[in-house]
Amino acid sequence: MTTEKILVTGATGKIGRELVPRLLAAGVEVKAGTRNPDRGRSLFPSGVEVVELNYNRTETYDAALTWADRVFLMPPPFSPDAHASIVPFLDWAVSTRVRHVVLLTGMAVTDFDELPLRRVERHLEDQDTEHTILRPNLYMQNFHPGFISRQIREDGRIRLPAGQGKVSLVDVRDVAAVASRALTSDDHFGRALTLTGPESLTLEEAAEVVSEAAGRSIPFESVGDEDFRGILSRSGWGPAEIEAILGLFGSIREGGRAAIHPEGEEILERELRNFRSFAREHARSWD
Ligand SMILES: NC(=O)c1ccc[n+]([C@@H]2O[C@H](COP(=O)([O-])OP(=O)(O)OC[C@H]3O[C@@H](n4cnc5c(N)ncnc54)[C@H](OP(=O)(O)O)[C@@H]3O)[C@@H](O)[C@H]2O)c1
Repeated sequence: MTTEKILVTGATGKIGRELVPRLLAAGVEVKAGTRNPDRGRSLFPSGVEVVELNYNRTETYDAALTWADRVFLMPPPFSPDAHASIVPFLDWAVSTRVRHVVLLTGMAVTDFDELPLRRVERHLEDQDTEHTILRPNLYMQNFHPGFISRQIREDGRIRLPAGQGKVSLVDVRDVAAVASRALTSDDHFGRALTLTGPESLTLEEAAEVVSEAAGRSIPFESVGDEDFRGILSRSGWGPAEIEAILGLFGSIREGGRAAIHPEGEEILERELRNFRSFAREHARSWD
């Protein structure tokens, strides 16, 4: 039996960094694609070949793809241009020996057929190549090391336009574990898996969990879109990304991110990580 060869795009990102070691442990050959190979080499063991890959530079495609049987495809974060930047790479991939693409998008993308990530999904669904789509909810890791942790450390509180909407936060380690299973078997061809954590919390409840773990009060304040634009803009986010993040929080406010889905637990055959244990694990990061 030949060893499967898997290209992980976005390898330095939240999911990629968890996924690469899991695939190695599963016994497959892994290439890690990143715009910054030097940084990539510092993150992974020597058994991983790190290649330059930039969706906007077609000259980087061949070195990453000619070798691969399967691809984990990570769109750029919160990008309104996700469709335009990733489709040329996807088309290139399906024209090579790649036989399976695992695409990561997001929960509830099917609510709007013209969302960039939904358009990427539809493009993939139209190809002859086998595919699996992973649609995770908001990551717990936004609380650490992501942008919410910065708010907590700098401002002592959490300010998001989430209202009283509930969200079934998911841990990236569980998303990466499901991605690894999908990439190392043929069992999930043609499936779209919504990946959530095991409970649904308002952001106020999430802030209480963080406060309890940190041993001090870290209050939640629901802010309006205009205030949130200012908060993100002062943190260095660009206007287009800000609008994409506002769309995400609008979906939380309207209840579109509250459901709990069983797929992750079914595939991993274990309970998924909950937010309380995540907060305890990272309690000192909010000091
Ligand atoms: N954050 C969340 O809570 C969440 C939840 C559900 C779904 N998602 C979705 O997940 C996707 C990624 O978000 P994230 O927060 O996980 O981001 P992330 O951790 O920053 O990872 C994004 C990766 O994309 C790569 N990338 C960016 N531009 C690229 C380009 N032009 N060519 C090749 N690679 C490029 C980056 O790799 P290099 O810098 O190494 O090139 C980076 O590793 C987004 O589509 C988002 O909607 C995010």
